[in-house]
Amino acid sequence: MTILVTGATGNVGKHVVAELAAAGEPVRAVTRTPSRVPGGVPVAQGGIADVPGMLDGVDRVFLVWPFTHADDAPPIVSALASQVSQVVFLSARGVSDDSPLFHARIEKLLRDSGVGTTFLRAGGFATNTLEWADQVRAGVVRWVYGDAGRSLIHERDIADVAVTALTSPSHLGAAYELTGPETLTQVEQVRTLGAVVGRDVRWEEMPVGEARESMLARGWDQDFLDNGLAYWASLVDEPETVTGTVEEVTGKPARTFAQWAIDHTADFR
Ligand SMILES: NC(=O)c1ccc[n+]([C@@H]2O[C@H](COP(=O)([O-])OP(=O)(O)OC[C@H]3O[C@@H](n4cnc5c(N)ncnc54)[C@H](OP(=O)(O)O)[C@@H]3O)[C@@H](O)[C@H]2O)c1
Repeated sequence: MTILVTGATGNVGKHVVAELAAAGEPVRAVTRTPSRVPGGVPVAQGGIADVPGMLDGVDRVFLVWPFTHADDAPPIVSALASQVSQVVFLSARGVSDDSPLFHARIEKLLRDSGVGTTFLRAGGFATNTLEWADQVRAGVVRWVYGDAGRSLIHERDIADVAVTALTSPSHLGAAYELTGPETLTQVEQVRTLGAVVGRDVRWEEMPVGEARESMLARGWDQDFLDNGLAYWASLVDEPETVTGTVEEVTGKPARTFAQWAIDHTADFR
């Protein structure tokens, strides 16, 4: 029986696909652009709305939701519940039933559907700092809340947990809070990136109003952005904590931010 991987060309999904294929597991990658999937991996071409038609012979699904709302999720979850035995859902840390995040709504839909679930409640991805690549090259990163402390996670650690959950039945019903192994302020993250690429890079605090306008102009959903800014503000006084869940599930310690920066040096040079 096949494992269907959505988000298969994304930060996390591409590693899930590669690891499952390397382990000899029957995997099928969902993408709108098949040329982005490594040769030899079977592909189901389409977007998330096409998933109900891709479930022939599929037993387990890695679900990455590509939107910031869950309005289109109910028919997709119904189709999954009627045809597969397990959905490993890439959710978000801090999700609770009254959370405004779309992840909470999708978790509830999945839970209520009766399908077997494993929720990967990931904290902030280290890949979010790729947003700074041009600024790192220019030597100054301007953004808000430099003293906000985050326990960013390497995308490969999320993928390792996903593959473990997809290939071993003991993770059914689990909800894992996943973080990196340390908390660094954004100023410290920038310093780490500079050290790895061998350049002096400094932090410059951006006024919150300016950041908000620029993100709205780039198409961010207003509620999603305002929740995000309020959250970053809170991390100055209450930095994110660290969980040991990656190591508990995979048997390997979570990768540090410095390791992530080394793995992505080419993106910042
Ligand atoms: N960034 C964070 O800090 C963070 C923290 C917690 C949770 N998350 C969650 O993680 C998820 C993103 O994971 P990621 O970073 O690995 O993904 P990503 O790199 O943003 O990749 C998005 C993937 O979704 C696919 N995609 C885009 N639009 C699609 C559509 N209409 N239908 C089907 N597929 C579509 C793309 O595939 P193709 O273009 O090949 O079709 C691509 O593989 C989101 O749900 C986000 O909320 C993120």
